[in-house]
Amino acid sequence: MSAEKSVEDNLKNSCNGIDILSHLPVMADEVVEFFAGSLNEGLLVDGTSGAGGHLEVLSRAFPRMSFLAVDRDPTAVMNLRSRFSDNPGVIVRHGSYTEIPVILEELNLGKASAVLFDLGLSSIQLDDPSRGFSYRYEGPLDMRYDDSTGSTAAELLNRISEKEIADIIYNYGEEGRSRRIAKAIVSSRPVYTTLELAEIINGSIRRNSPKILSRVFQALRIAVNGELDELDRMIEYLDSWTEVGARIAFITFHSIEDRRIKLLFRDSPPYRQHSPRWVVPGEDELRNNSRARSARLRMGIRI
Ligand SMILES: C[S@@+](CC[C@H](N)C(=O)[O-])C[C@H]1O[C@@H](n2cnc3c(N)ncnc32)[C@H](O)[C@@H]1O
Repeated sequence: MSAEKSVEDNLKNSCNGIDILSHLPVMADEVVEFFAGSLNEGLLVDGTSGAGGHLEVLSRAFPRMSFLAVDRDPTAVMNLRSRFSDNPGVIVRHGSYTEIPVILEELNLGKASAVLFDLGLSSIQLDDPSRGFSYRYEGPLDMRYDDSTGSTAAELLNRISEKEIADIIYNYGEEGRSRRIAKAIVSSRPVYTTLELAEIINGSIRRNSPKILSRVFQALRIAVNGELDELDRMIEYLDSWTEVGARIAFITFHSIEDRRIKLLFRDSPPYRQHSPRWVVPGEDELRNNSRARSARLRMGIRI
């Protein structure tokens, strides 16, 4: 993540408490402006609806469009359903964004004319100790977006080899001390909680480094949720459910996923980069929401 601030630091700096964090949508004006260049009718898919911040802004900005809101987190979906219950134009579905083609077919919604993916985790997820995403609060090492399926971070860490742990930390956290940290984890196993893991990591590098903790936690979260595989799988079929001319926006928070989107719009035949290809939050937004600091909005058009 080079000089970028960690996702967790950005999320945390933006708030003094959970309520304030209850999700300021990142670069919402820029997303609206980008989508306003396309038809103002049709279907807008929000593939990572989370707390519904973007959805709220977009459904107000484009009242003639219909909306499909998808999220992998059952709790987020429950809250979205109640937040948008009085808006018949918004359909909310639980699932991974890789399932969007199936959902669209089931609901007979046709193809999307605008699509948004705001990648990563929400502040609400990060701030819930029971989810285990944060090294700041004691909680079970879970880290699953969908806690009804798959292995928790603890199960993963207690099962896989030292080399596999090191590879996860290196590849998904871009952390150079991956081997040393993996060795310490393996020799302290079993590990069950966030603070246990944080202590092991701090012990292995002989200091308390929020930056390194954040990278390791990010790496584990990506591994637990198979985030890059999910992203690749979704991208592979994106052209099948977007109409020609559709506007596609991705908000990324770290370079590993951002690189993929850059290549998608630059090198993949059915897309062209929008101009500007990407934007970052302006000073005004950063003053109100420093969570947005490492965000990048990448824009492309389906051709
Ligand atoms: C940054 S938050 C989105 C915040 C939202 N844009 C808002 O304004 O409230 C990212 C969301 O993506 C969800 N998510 C992560 N991976 C997903 C996937 N493969 N499919 C669908 N949702 C996913 C997470 O559960 C989280 O709620």
